[in-house]
Amino acid sequence: MDTPRRVEHQETDRGYVPVYATGIVEQPWASYSKTDHEVWNTLYQRQRELLPAYACKEFLEGVERFGFGEGGIPRFDDLNKVLGEATGWQIVAVEGLLPDEVFFDHLANRRFPVSWWIRRPDQLDYLSEPDLFHDLFGHVPLLLNPVFADYMEAYGKGGMKAHAIGPEALMNLTRLYWYTVEFGLINTPEGMRIYGAGIVSSKGESVYSIDSAAPNRIGFGLERVMNTKYRIDTYQQTYFVIDSFDQLFDATRPDFTPIYASLAEGSPVAAADVLGTDKVFQRGTREGFASGADN
Ligand code: PHE
Ligand code: FE
Repeated sequence: MDTPRRVEHQETDRGYVPVYATGIVEQPWASYSKTDHEVWNTLYQRQRELLPAYACKEFLEGVERFGFGEGGIPRFDDLNKVLGEATGWQIVAVEGLLPDEVFFDHLANRRFPVSWWIRRPDQLDYLSEPDLFHDLFGHVPLLLNPVFADYMEAYGKGGMKAHAIGPEALMNLTRLYWYTVEFGLINTPEGMRIYGAGIVSSKGESVYSIDSAAPNRIGFGLERVMNTKYRIDTYQQTYFVIDSFDQLFDATRPDFTPIYASLAEGSPVAAADVLGTDKVFQRGTREGFASGADN
């Protein structure tokens, strides 16, 4: 199947090949304004107060090890020393969202792209594209965890493969990222905790994902997750819960090729639905759920 091209192609003596523009820039640290640093400080402080009761210990440990604080926006170079020694990952500064293939290539090579710019003070609670606070505070602490670090690399490699298979496979894999890396919960001896970056970088969803009676909380199943649509316009209607990062890594180890093929035969599950086969931690009340299509 001919997949849509999201990367520029160019005629070369090796033929018509994609140009892997890496999108990497240098973090323009000296040009952050006072306001930019204050936005970081405010967001950091809010989450620092809230998350000890909500986020998993691996995430909280990561925040400590990087020494994030209220001293303004961190310098990526400093963080990379800690990160490189711990798991061999590096963060790279980018302008924003990258074409899928470029993003996967970064992950497959243990580079995590972080938007260099931070949101405005009137966007503390919501913005529609990922900024530095989401990318850095949300995603990077867990890259210090060896198992999660390996999962992210494997995801990047899996992304290249899914991309070559076609847009439906890519959609299945994107759902996995959404419900784990962005919006995942983990069941711990201390109770249900957050590990997803989209949640830990949001004050409102941190509380909602754990405390609200409205959403479903369902045990992680690989095919269940890859077959479930998601909402990009509201808090999630369903959260999937892992028992451990080892469980996540082991479940995603098999070759997905036959799974993509079998999922293509059926139809996806709506974001709000609970199935008879689900391991239900909580069946949501659906209070306040938006109607209309999910993705
Ligand atoms: N095992 C997957 C595949 O064969 C790759 C993958 C690993 C995808 C981890 C996501 C996460 O496609
Ligand atoms: Fe993200």
